[in-house]
Amino acid sequence: MKDIFVATGGRPLKGSIRVHGAKNAVLPLLAASILTDEAVAVDDCPFISDVDAMTCLLTRMGAQVERMGRRICVRAKDVMPAEDMKELCGAMRSSMFLLGALLARQGEVRVPLPGGCKIGDRPLDIHLDGMAKLGAEASVSAGEVHCRCSRLKGADIVMRYPSVGATENLLLCAAVAEGRTRLINCAREPEIIALARALNAMGGRVRGEGSSVITVDGVDKLHGATLVPDPDRIVAGTLILAVALLGGDVTVFGASKRDLDSLLPYVCSPDMRASADGAGVRVVCDGGRMRAFEACTAPYPLLATDMQPQLFACALKARGVSRITETVFRNRFAHARQFEKMGAKIYLTGSTATIVGVDALRGAALKADDLRGGAGLCLAALAAEGESRIEGVEYIDRGYEGLEETLSLLGADIRRVRVDEK
Ligand code: EPZ
Repeated sequence: MKDIFVATGGRPLKGSIRVHGAKNAVLPLLAASILTDEAVAVDDCPFISDVDAMTCLLTRMGAQVERMGRRICVRAKDVMPAEDMKELCGAMRSSMFLLGALLARQGEVRVPLPGGCKIGDRPLDIHLDGMAKLGAEASVSAGEVHCRCSRLKGADIVMRYPSVGATENLLLCAAVAEGRTRLINCAREPEIIALARALNAMGGRVRGEGSSVITVDGVDKLHGATLVPDPDRIVAGTLILAVALLGGDVTVFGASKRDLDSLLPYVCSPDMRASADGAGVRVVCDGGRMRAFEACTAPYPLLATDMQPQLFACALKARGVSRITETVFRNRFAHARQFEKMGAKIYLTGSTATIVGVDALRGAALKADDLRGGAGLCLAALAAEGESRIEGVEYIDRGYEGLEETLSLLGADIRRVRVDEK
């Protein structure tokens, strides 16, 4: 048996919803808990499978892990690489954050090459180059990453690309390295700021987070703390786009003005009104046809690649021809083929998708191939005439806490159904 979503388009969204803690902040915060043998609590953790897999990984490595509602407590007194790490790491990319934490903690780590979404090759050269600069011997062979270093020593590390994961791994190493490390051309995402703040709450000495140069003065020991991630800006953005596309009046608690401002340049239609205050964002829209737009993903603070499939869904019925260029991942247009089953007109040329807006989309049998692509399919299905069946729900569940429940609570006709594996 497996879960699919069944969705029928045509209904506006109404009501309010609170966004859970950010998946891409919670995962590195959980990894940071390995850097101390004291208890670390991470609050507002979403009930999603990537977090479950990470807590399972930590448990199998010997950490004490306890989940009480949205709070996860980790006490990594005795940690050893789990025998079956391979199986779990194969399922999720975020196990890569354990690379830095385990190297810093144990001086040696073997992590199977991670699996993850099929959105393009996921090399690790920036991670390993940085670790080598900190004094580690780092190599990849036979599907395994092997790093070893008796004592990490601070260094200047110029990153060839502001990789989010590499910035996080190197932050975790630098926090307890000897001396000063500067990460130059590092990632600036809010999740980096969250990790820097967490390390400082644990006694670390990190500054410059959010800019392109982070300076870390290593400390001998980190202590326990309670860490609070920001709300998930990608989930918030997904819901903001859902209202813009489907129409309605929705308040997204936990969404910030920054989340709204990052999307308004693309989806503002004549009748859409949006406002933000300290608690959240309210979007009112009568679901009229959006104007076509041009968009290009890039590292923060520019348009997030994790919003690309959802924005793509908004372009399908826009008035005119839209263009979306994906510059972060090489192969993040798998959803285009699915949209074409619904009658969308799409031309892919390299990293650019040209989308000719159509008057209507029709429901179809769709298959999600990755997490955010799956969210995009849900939005398009709810903007289509008739019923759609969406497979690949397991991808969506990696990063959205019951996306179908959230949308149906807001009035959408979408439900989870158990069906036979075909
Ligand atoms: C993080 O992935 C996020 N995942 C991704 O979100 C997000 O799309 C991505 O950052 C970009 O913002 C988590 O935080 C768990 P990168 P990460 O290293 O760290 C290349 C989601 O849907 N690269 O910034 O893997 C890489 O191939 C997920 O929540 C190298 O070439 O992303 C990619 O093209 C999907 N060498 C680009 O950089 C390296 O050593 C960006 O990757 C590392 C990366």
